Formats: sequence, structure tokens, C-alpha cells
Amino acid sequence: MTTAAMDRVRITDDLDLSRLVYGMWRLADDADTSPGHIRNKIAACLDQGITTLDQADIYGGYRAEELLGAALTPDLRTRIEVVTKCDIVVDAGRHVGARVKHYDTSRAHIVSSVDMSLKLMGLEAIELLLIHRPDPLMDHQETGRALDDLVSDGKVRAVGVSNFRPWDWALLQSAMQTPLGTNQIELSLAAPEGFTNGDVAFHQQRGQPIMAWSPLGGGALMTGDGPLAQALDAVARRDGVDRAAVATAWLLAHPAGILPVMGTNSINRIRALSDAFKVVMDRQTWFELYTAALGREVA
Ligand SMILES: NC(=O)c1ccc[n+]([C@@H]2O[C@H](COP(=O)([O-])OP(=O)(O)OC[C@H]3O[C@@H](n4cnc5c(N)ncnc54)[C@H](OP(=O)(O)O)[C@@H]3O)[C@@H](O)[C@H]2O)c1
Repeated sequence: MTTAAMDRVRITDDLDLSRLVYGMWRLADDADTSPGHIRNKIAACLDQGITTLDQADIYGGYRAEELLGAALTPDLRTRIEVVTKCDIVVDAGRHVGARVKHYDTSRAHIVSSVDMSLKLMGLEAIELLLIHRPDPLMDHQETGRALDDLVSDGKVRAVGVSNFRPWDWALLQSAMQTPLGTNQIELSLAAPEGFTNGDVAFHQQRGQPIMAWSPLGGGALMTGDGPLAQALDAVARRDGVDRAAVATAWLLAHPAGILPVMGTNSINRIRALSDAFKVVMDRQTWFELYTAALGREVA
């Protein structure tokens, strides 16, 4: 098995990620969750140079990290980077009995979640830990120090956030020594608001890579036959790829240097993920798709 060349994106001085990331939110939903099948999916990623796997403690009702851990071999471990997240608490798995869905950015919760992630995935360190959702009750001093300590203790190599607005980022960063490495936000032709509401601009200005979750709108962009579907299909026909490759290329073309986090469970679709790099996304093609997504011409 060879690892094909794929752009790498620098997150910190000693961590880079593959430009395309494979997300494991849906891992436990697959009909086949055997270690062998999960290894085949990872191998299909590695064949294209997709080395970064995106996890969260909560995925699969707090089960997806364990499924990945059961599949990882010592050799595979050396060839991947693991991203995981914490702070969402729901009444399931290890948090059964929680009375209300909530966020927990306390030191105790973050540290115990990281310890559990390390154990379930059989890792000595997590490459990148993200705070999953902004917590309205966050004590930024406590959370910031906990994240700094996890880095200096060697349990995680880098830290970042997810779904943070610029002011949430600034608040947490103000209480930290370690630079936050990335913000993972929803961004796609089905959810393009980040391109104009300041989220992308904030990180682009600072040269901070953005990870885009649900780049295919969670599958919504792949079904239907409206104007956006027709616009995607026209580009797909032109460049000999499928609709998913075009929707992904639309994100890759942005100068902020976005890392799409792809979520398919299908081996054949995983094998085609890097087709996104075959698409010619010139400015007018980008705007044709954007116009179709907005449902109107830009002003
Ligand atoms: N940070 C956060 O808050 C957050 C939130 C959500 C997700 N995420 C991350 O982002 C990752 C990706 O999210 P996502 O799974 O929603 O991404 P996505 O790639 O936008 O959507 C994947 C879904 O689209 C379907 N799909 C793909 N190609 C298709 C096609 N040609 N025809 C029909 N259906 C198709 C897949 O079905 P098949 O499996 O059948 O191909 C799958 O259900 C997650 O795994 C997770 O790592 C993060």
C-alpha cells in the first residue's frame, strides 16, 4: 500500500494534516463495523494520501472511538493523525443519566474525556483535540489552562475548536499559551454562510486553517435535481467526476485553504474522494455554483 502525494496543511510547528480528512461521525451507523472493514476504509484513505481521521468522543453514542481503536494496528497508527473532540454530554454511553444535553468545558471533564479517548483508541497521544461546541458557561481561564496542560503533558499534540465564532475563539485564546490550531465549522454549498458572516475571514486573515464539516451537506447535495444539483452535474460531466467531487472542489478552491472533512461510509465513494482535485474550479464556475446555492444572483 503506497501513500499518494496529497497536499499537507500545517496546523502547528510539528503537526500537519492531510488536505482531505476522513470523518468518523457515521462510523457506527455502517452495517459493517468490524475491524477488518474499518481497516479497509482507512486503507482506501491512505491510498490517496488521506491520513487524517476525524473523531469525537460522542460519535456513535460514545462508541465510534472504540470501533476505531479495535481496528488500529501498530503499523496503521504510525501512518495516521487522529483528531478528536469533547465537551458534548448527552444521555448515552458513559454519560447515561445526563438530565439535559449540555456542554462541559471544565478541566475535569476535558481531562477525563481525553483519558477515555486515549484508552478507547489505544493511543499514547492524540494529534489534535478540539472543543466540540462553544460552551456558554465556559470559564476561559480554566479551559485554556486545561488545554495548555494537555499539550505540555504530551497527551495531545495540538488543540483547536469547532463551531466557534470569532469572539468565542478570541476569548479562549486570550487565556492560553498554546496557539489554537484550527476551527472546524460547517461549510459547504448547502451551508455557505461562513464565507460572508466573518467566520472564514477571521481565520483567513490570521492564516489559520479551517476544517469544513459536512462538505456535501450531510448528503443533501447528493440528492435532488434542482438548480444546484444541475449546476454540480454540469461541472461533474465536464470534468469526468461525480457531484461530490465538484462540491468538495468548491471548498478546496477557496484561498483560505479549507480542509473538507468527508463522511461517506461507502468504500467506493472513499476511493473517489481525491477526484475533487481533478475539478477545474475557475472563478466563474465557483460563482455559478454559489449563485445556484443562494438561489439568486449576487448583488
Ligand atoms: N464538528 C462538528 O460539529 C461536526 C458536525 C458534523 C460532522 N462533523 C465531521 O464531519 C464529517 C463529515 O460529515 P458528514 O458525514 O455529514 O459529511 P458529508 O460528506 O457532507 O456527508 C456524508 C453523507 O453523504 C452521503 N453521500 C455521500 N456521497 C453520496 C452520494 N453520491 N449519493 C448519496 N449520498 C451520498 C453519505 O452516505 P454514504 O455513507 O452512503 O456514502 C453520508 O451519509 C463527520 O464524519 C465528522 O467527522 C463534525
